Amino acid sequence: MAFPQTRLRRMRRTETIRNMVRETKVSVDDLIMPLFVCPGKNVSNPITSMPGNSQLSVDLLVEECKKLVALGIKSVLLFGIPEHKDEHGLVACEHNGIVQQAIRAIKAEISDIMIVADVCNCEYTTHGHCGTIVDGDVHNDLTLETLAKQSVSLAEAGADIIAPSDMMDGRVGKIREELDKNGFYNVPIMAYSAKYASAFYGPFREAAESAPKFGNRASYQMDPANSNEALREVEQDIIEGADMVMVKPALSYLDVIRRVKDTFNMPIVAYNVSGEFSMVKAAAANGWIDEERIVKEILTSIKRAGADIIITYHAAQMAEILIREN
Ligand code: PBG
Ligand code: ZN
Repeated sequence: MAFPQTRLRRMRRTETIRNMVRETKVSVDDLIMPLFVCPGKNVSNPITSMPGNSQLSVDLLVEECKKLVALGIKSVLLFGIPEHKDEHGLVACEHNGIVQQAIRAIKAEISDIMIVADVCNCEYTTHGHCGTIVDGDVHNDLTLETLAKQSVSLAEAGADIIAPSDMMDGRVGKIREELDKNGFYNVPIMAYSAKYASAFYGPFREAAESAPKFGNRASYQMDPANSNEALREVEQDIIEGADMVMVKPALSYLDVIRRVKDTFNMPIVAYNVSGEFSMVKAAAANGWIDEERIVKEILTSIKRAGADIIITYHAAQMAEILIREN
């Protein structure tokens, strides 16, 4: 028989056969779009480092959600920019807090949308850290109190999923306990489990006005060099009651996503973060890359690595691509 006997190219000859044997497909069902809500009416503040994204007042946020749902993106992740900040982030626990208002407004107008509420203190504290500061560092156990309070308040407003992004020890257990105590036993927890101390969050901190005023987040977020530790973080969150576990950022941590997927039989979320998004936008604006092909390739690779769910600022664009292709 003629050499070579094995011809893998046979299965790549036509688009039809390639489509047939494709192992990984991204669907709108997998995608969550992050949105930023700010005070005021008819306000849209463009986030310069994240082209196409803006801080939106509640009224415009509702309109944005309607557009997303029309595209098939039925899940959003909300971040708030409050009018005032305080020492402990208690402004985030108010009945009429900015995200609470946003959730009620969205739910009043849109029935088939799922709202994931990010839970953290950094957007709400004067110092920009994710918790209460004692002796220059974030105090773990005091911070659990504000996180649980914020979670219950967001659930009361109608949040469908609670997503703590603070990286305190024991927060999933504490939040689960408080949610249950208040009757929210049906509200799942999406835990930012393996969240790294990453430079890829730069544009987000401009968007959410949440950069720390002193120091950095290295005493609570993970060291980018570690992946065994990521498995311990994920395991701990599962033990404490997480329903979904997250790896964040995504692209520099695809190996971590794969290890988590292979180790735990759980829905895995990957957060394709702001810096990852902005790099694509900047290169595309310069004409250096084909933006649509890059977006598809990036989201496909995150799924192929093992993510079931992807939080991405490319969500609406990806939905448009999928609509065009079908
Ligand atoms: C806050 C939070 C951050 C992100 C989500 N929640 C930033 C941070 O930890 O400083 C990052 C999202 C992104 O970069 O897109 N706890
Ligand atoms: Zn934070």
